[in-house]
Amino acid sequence: MSNQYKIGVIVGSLRTNSYNRQVAEALVKLFPDHFTFNFLDISELPLYNQDADKQLPSVVANFKSQIAECDGIIFVTPEYNRSIPGVLKNAIDHASRPAGNNSWNGKPAGILGISTGNISTAIAQQHLRICLASLNMPTMNQPECYLKWFEGMVDEQHNFAPKSQVFIQAWVDTYCQFIIRNVAN
Ligand code: FNR
Repeated sequence: MSNQYKIGVIVGSLRTNSYNRQVAEALVKLFPDHFTFNFLDISELPLYNQDADKQLPSVVANFKSQIAECDGIIFVTPEYNRSIPGVLKNAIDHASRPAGNNSWNGKPAGILGISTGNISTAIAQQHLRICLASLNMPTMNQPECYLKWFEGMVDEQHNFAPKSQVFIQAWVDTYCQFIIRNVAN
């Protein structure tokens, strides 16, 4: 029997009809059964303030423990003004602290992003890679996944249109192998 792997999914958009959330929800359906997913909510985290490191708010402590339970993390994020959204950076900063208690440490990461623009989150993803390297997250390099939204890309049952599914399935298959290689036993 295969090992079970629990993956945390973080969506970098809080928008109700977020394309990135729709992609994330369709994405997890492409994994084999021994992968399970927890969508980690970043919307209730306060703005990070180092003063609070001495006494973490419960929402932050809870976020950190949810990350601790995950074998890996997938980030699905839009690009805002050629970088990652502030809400995502805020979440990353929260879980990186207090000093010496970096919840991201060693968690294998995958990155995808979708936008309405032609550069399809390429710059945001590169900025995110800089953060994850500093947090000691092994991050899958290839295949990269830069998506541009089109009407009908994800249906109401969270299924990709066939032409997107083939490409994204290849990403999923590689990420599964990446997790197996990088999860600490
Ligand atoms: C954007 N958008 C955008 N798109 C892009 O490709 N590069 C960019 O730098 C930006 N910058 C940007 C800034 C801000 C503040 C907003 C609100 C939007 C457009 C973005 O791709 C589009 O709004 C997506 O729909 C956002 O993703 P969600 O919310 O649908 O997941």
